[in-house]
Amino acid sequence: MRMSFADESRPADPAPWWRHAVIYQIYPRSFADASGDGIGDLPGITSRLDDLAELGIDAVWLSPFYRSPQNDAGYDVSDYRDVDPLFGTLADADDLIAGAHARGIRVIVDLVPNHSSDRHAWFQAALAAGPGSRERARYLFRDGRGENGELPPNNWESVFGGAAWTRVAEADGTPGQWYLHLFDRSQPDFDWSNEEVREEFRGVLRFWLDRGVDGFRVDVAHGLVKKAGLPDYTPPADAGSMGGGLDDVPYWGQPGVHEIYRDWHLLVAGYAGDRALCAEAWLPTIEQTALWVRPDEMQQAFNFEYLETEWDAAQLRAVVTESLARYSAVGAPSTWVLSNHDVVRHATRLALAEPIPQGWGIGPRTPGRPDPVVGLRRARAASALMLGLPGGAYLYQGEELGLPEAIDIPDEARQDPTWFRTNHERYGRDGCRVPLPWTSDAPGYGFSPTGASWLPQPPEWRELARDAQRGEPDSTLTLYTTLLAERRHHALGTGTLEWIEGLGDDVVAFRNGNVTVVANLGTEPVPLPAGGLLVASEPGVAGVLAPDTTAWLLPA
Ligand code: GLC
Repeated sequence: MRMSFADESRPADPAPWWRHAVIYQIYPRSFADASGDGIGDLPGITSRLDDLAELGIDAVWLSPFYRSPQNDAGYDVSDYRDVDPLFGTLADADDLIAGAHARGIRVIVDLVPNHSSDRHAWFQAALAAGPGSRERARYLFRDGRGENGELPPNNWESVFGGAAWTRVAEADGTPGQWYLHLFDRSQPDFDWSNEEVREEFRGVLRFWLDRGVDGFRVDVAHGLVKKAGLPDYTPPADAGSMGGGLDDVPYWGQPGVHEIYRDWHLLVAGYAGDRALCAEAWLPTIEQTALWVRPDEMQQAFNFEYLETEWDAAQLRAVVTESLARYSAVGAPSTWVLSNHDVVRHATRLALAEPIPQGWGIGPRTPGRPDPVVGLRRARAASALMLGLPGGAYLYQGEELGLPEAIDIPDEARQDPTWFRTNHERYGRDGCRVPLPWTSDAPGYGFSPTGASWLPQPPEWRELARDAQRGEPDSTLTLYTTLLAERRHHALGTGTLEWIEGLGDDVVAFRNGNVTVVANLGTEPVPLPAGGLLVASEPGVAGVLAPDTTAWLLPA
């Protein structure tokens, strides 16, 4: 069944949905497994749509489920127009889209335009066709340096560790050209100066828009255009993997990339129903990220500066102030986010003694094990603060259960290419990708009918299972459900923020319409302003606000 959200009759929205939506990220391989093979799938997601509707989200974003050898968990796509048999079929995708729409939930899919899989027909053709061919011109093949081309064309490193170039054997078996891969060697980068590449992706966008999706999360949206001449570049040793915070990187944030998004903007605008594009772009400043959401480009960009802000009141006030100013200067909403499949889950991250560079991950040998009680308490307070802010927000599956990072995954179970490409020096991202617990007393906590799970689930997750939290007044699930309902009821997403001063250096407090949000990030309780308590991130709030707690108040 094909249908689009626009087909349904619904009350007029005061602003396009993406300006204020709460969008829930589904990582398909870890959400729900219907087939029993231990890897989540599309029918599994469809079977759980009622749970998502009950949670009260507006949309889902699905990480890739396309045909892929799964070397980077599906971010290595070999066919952009088909579903990998691991996850189901195109008919399953149609059912999922229809099922979500029937419940008033929009569907965003992931678009991976920076690179394909090396199993993609185009890359296989490029290998066969040889240097100078039209087939090679769709990717970034170059001759090597050195007397016999034995050295890579430049010194770039892969985001996952090791060199960003791999040398191929030509048809006659001799060592030949090199191709660029900012990620794994199985993920060759496209050459976006090539019109064939541009046209191909227009077709991919149309393919999914025609199937009824409401938008795209654009993977590595800051990486498509590389600086002319591919000059050498060495990142600082402690830099996050995706370039956040770094200026002047010849493969991130090049100005030519905006032309691509202007083109897509027009294409997407040709469809009914306010479809939207969201950039995954890790950039040096909020000012730069705001360039991705100018009126003729994308609708949203993840606010990774917000995600990377430490649990510190002054820093949070500053990042929120700057975000609202920079995004509204270009007419865009801010899109707040605290967790995703590439970062340490915030229920653990907010209790780390030292920040960990993005993408490195943590494991049993990481010094300074974070306290899970402190982490969860801060995570609940942080989410309550975020969901009080005007704009859109992204949630990552499992944060509504308060899931921590899985730290103790055995070495032999790890699967992230980062782990292998850094010779086990960086744990990578497996710890935030462990399959969800649904039912506390079922094998595999109900993730899969057989109990199978592609990454082992920590035993402590039993009590975090959805069924154990459902309807429990103090559970994290109930907290999220209440926050989302009140956020919608008070239209906080389309509201405006007015800071409240004078409650202390460690307090973040603001008014958004009728609702006053107060978060105490300090170590001492603070008096709460007068008002009726609407919801709080911890039980028992009355008169004072304990450390690491957020409260929403209504006028007295
Ligand atoms: C993005 C994805 C990440 C993936 C990478 C390469 O950062 O979020 O999971 O590994 O792109 O596609």
